[in-house]
Amino acid sequence: MRLTILGGGGFRVPLVYRALLADRGKGRVTHVTLHDLDQRRLDAIVKVLREQASGYEDAPLVDVTTDLDAAVTGADFVFSAIRVGGLAGRATDERVALELGVLGQETVGAGGIAYGLRTIPVAVDIARRIARLAPEAWVINFTNPAGMVTEAMAAHLGDRVIGICDSPVGLGRRAARALGVDPERAWFDYAGLNHLGWLRAIRVDGVDVLPRLLADEAALTSFEEGKLFGADWLRTLGSLPNEYLHYYYFNREAVAGARAASQTRGAFLLEQQARFYSRMEAAGTLPFETWDATRLEREVTYMAENREAVDAGERNSCDLDSGGYENVALALMRAIALDERTTLILNVRGRGVLRPLDDQAVIETNCHVDANGARPVSGLPLADHSVGLVTAVKSVERDVISAATSGSRAAALRAFALHPLVDSVAVARRLLDGYLTHAAGLDYLQVDTRV
Ligand code: G6P
Ligand code: MN
Repeated sequence: MRLTILGGGGFRVPLVYRALLADRGKGRVTHVTLHDLDQRRLDAIVKVLREQASGYEDAPLVDVTTDLDAAVTGADFVFSAIRVGGLAGRATDERVALELGVLGQETVGAGGIAYGLRTIPVAVDIARRIARLAPEAWVINFTNPAGMVTEAMAAHLGDRVIGICDSPVGLGRRAARALGVDPERAWFDYAGLNHLGWLRAIRVDGVDVLPRLLADEAALTSFEEGKLFGADWLRTLGSLPNEYLHYYYFNREAVAGARAASQTRGAFLLEQQARFYSRMEAAGTLPFETWDATRLEREVTYMAENREAVDAGERNSCDLDSGGYENVALALMRAIALDERTTLILNVRGRGVLRPLDDQAVIETNCHVDANGARPVSGLPLADHSVGLVTAVKSVERDVISAATSGSRAAALRAFALHPLVDSVAVARRLLDGYLTHAAGLDYLQVDTRV
């Protein structure tokens, strides 16, 4: 089986390769093609993979290319994990918004809109090429903002594109562990949009054990989400929100925390990754160790400003083990390739299971997966407060997709202005002007007030 990774010089590729090496089953991936625009990044990552593969006689073969059409032709699966504009682009997305006093974050709020505007034209071009050159391939989208990017790609690939994220599975696992429950035995009723969802029930042997967790102060505050949101708020809400909802429920604190920090997350990672890739270029020995130490530093500092803003303390060592997006990806690939039925939380077109969203809206929820792809499963209805956020943000996502595919500046302005975390149309205008001035890749937006 052939897997192509777009963004193949990216820092998280060794995680995917590690999962592939651990897969001993039949029908495993035998051939990996890494595609990236940057040869230097490819060379660096290949050094890490080579070290990972030593000792495995049957490690998947790896080749690299900077030619996109060649990379996708003949692929059975394509992972898309690109970062358009690089980490410098992410840092600009964050900074422009924070300077205007609103949230500047990779995927949420104004920063996520800017990132979507820059990424969707590229993602749509990729989707079109795959539809033409590898129409049978399944596309697994990691590229953020994953919900809107998956929806934009689905216009060309239909249900053959599936978006993934590690945060829902991570939340489920942490909550189960806090209860002493084996996550493999639990059914997690999770639904919403990417980075905007809620875990509403944890069923074990037909019984919902979430109320037991909510009642247990010590268990509830023993893991990431409990510490971030506080036991009292979680009890009041009656569900466990995705950690990204911290940017909504504690917006003022999160913005203040990010503004007080010496640099944005993107700026921090830009420096960290620049150090990593130049060390890799020089490295003769132990590229894996260098990579692993860098990865750990990245995980320890993840959402540090949010934790600091609400005095949540340090990250627990057990929270460092993320949901493992590479394992979700592998499980998805196996289920499709081998017709091994399973259930995974994925980003797919909703087919009406999440009311009041329409059939075409990409949502994040449990899906049954087999050789026919992923079909969303309906769970509990969304609470009214969730309906409010989910419909508002979906409408913003659609304005971003519309702006990115038509060039309409009005649609882009509407996206900024109608986002729940942007509190004034005047600020939205300044955000759009700020991004047009400072962010690369948005020149296609026309000065046009028509939709
Ligand atoms: C989680 C999210 C990803 C996001 C990442 C950011 O894994 O699910 O969608 O890209 O965090 O982590 P970073 O280390 O880049 O800030
Ligand atoms: Mn994610």
